[in-house]
Amino acid sequence: MPLLPPAAPLLAWYDRHRRVLPFRSRGGPPDPYHVWLSEVMLQQTTVAAVGPRFDRFLARFPSVAALAAAPEGDVMEEWAGLGYYARARNLHACARLVAARGGFPREAAALRELPGIGAYTAAAVAAIAFDRPVVPVDGNVERVVARLAAEEAELPGAKPRLAALAEGFMADAEARARPGDFAQALFDLGATICTPRAPACALCPWREGCEARKRGIQEELPRKAPK
Ligand code: ADE
Repeated sequence: MPLLPPAAPLLAWYDRHRRVLPFRSRGGPPDPYHVWLSEVMLQQTTVAAVGPRFDRFLARFPSVAALAAAPEGDVMEEWAGLGYYARARNLHACARLVAARGGFPREAAALRELPGIGAYTAAAVAAIAFDRPVVPVDGNVERVVARLAAEEAELPGAKPRLAALAEGFMADAEARARPGDFAQALFDLGATICTPRAPACALCPWREGCEARKRGIQEELPRKAPK
């Protein structure tokens, strides 16, 4: 039996239920600057809190070039209240490198080289901005995958295993045709259906293929090592 269900039902669900979020493109190709900025903000800040701050940041720094040209103090000031201020310093350093090279690199491996861009953010930008066939793995995606595969190993040790499983989604041609939508569909599924507590399995496009649900252990997964 395959460990992961096919992409098609998830993408069909996303086409109907896609969340409208301030940082999401509404038709038209996504702007890599917007995708990168929102993913950096979303690293440690909730979707609800990011919305207004994202709009405000873009009003002040409308392009990578504008951000690169700004004094660091202005960037720090605009970041005030969002916390994790290393993010703002890295954001500014990254904008300067990107402006100097004339745009963002399109591959996750090259994005990973930039300041403030870890494995998750590199994959998110590559998938959402450039439709590269990669799967960004955040806590939501770990939970979804752990349940689909009924992965019993505990976090954080299970992280590499869950990331490898998630990468397996891109073996499916339908996922590979729409990596940006696929990534955002996984985020939305984790945020609205496959929630940490009381997941809404009856509404899940993957309810048939979910191994944890079959075993009735969906709420117990992912398991976590005691702190
Ligand atoms: N969390 C992190 N990135 C996200 C995105 N692009 N959409 C929704 N939730 C997210």
